[in-house]
Amino acid sequence: MISLKNPDQIAKMRVAGALLYEVLQQLREMVKPGVSTAELDARAEELIRKGHAIPSFLNYEGYPASICASVDDAVVHGIPSKKQVLKEGQIISIDCGLILDGWQADSAFTVGVGEISPEAQHLIDVTEQCFWEGARQAVAGNRLGDLGHAVQTLAEANGFGVVRDLTGHGIGREMHEDPAVYNFGTPGRGLRMRKGMTIAIEPMISAGDWRVTVDDDQWCYRTRDRSLCSHYEHTIAINEEGLPEILTLPGFVWEQKED
Ligand code: MF3
Ligand code: CO
Repeated sequence: MISLKNPDQIAKMRVAGALLYEVLQQLREMVKPGVSTAELDARAEELIRKGHAIPSFLNYEGYPASICASVDDAVVHGIPSKKQVLKEGQIISIDCGLILDGWQADSAFTVGVGEISPEAQHLIDVTEQCFWEGARQAVAGNRLGDLGHAVQTLAEANGFGVVRDLTGHGIGREMHEDPAVYNFGTPGRGLRMRKGMTIAIEPMISAGDWRVTVDDDQWCYRTRDRSLCSHYEHTIAINEEGLPEILTLPGFVWEQKED
């Protein structure tokens, strides 16, 4: 069941989104060779609680941390560890979520550790562009297939793979609500988007094979061929005008199209 949100509810999600944005900015600045993923996790929890929010990942279906830290070939759900010390040249995706005043925000980004290869940077850049291609389609009247197709088209035009086993999702009082937001699809197909829908759009793009395996910890997804993978996510709301507002990117406004 899809729960539509009214403007007051979206206003609350906007506050949650703004706090999560601040947390992720701080984490981004901490990413350097020598830092452990456990340190990033501890800082995330501290910042979330300082903001009077609750880390939504912690204890979610038994998940043991406040962030997912997925390095190199890890796609998502990497469990932070003291033993995982970041090294120059790696890429890390940091995914985090919080609950403020009963409302959820969920966002992720991927960044290089120190200097990284041009190929790795290209993968990161294209993944972000895939998000924007998808987000641009998240307007009332369009369908989820339009969104997924936009993500997929850009990824594949760059020779990359779209991870299919995991999707974006509706979000609100719960972290995962309906609908599933696929990163591939057929234009004109799928659920019609409406004002008041709040969704997390989160392309996971691999440099090679899109197929994944799960580690023995039963959480961490990796590309089957161990190629690099990048992840980028924002929580968005389709507003009163039927346009997408990026709740986890406060102050962002779409550029007016000149015509
Ligand atoms: N942020 C992930 C998502 O986008 C969920 C994290 S799973 C958890 O769906 F167990 F870590 F919470
Ligand atoms: Co999500």
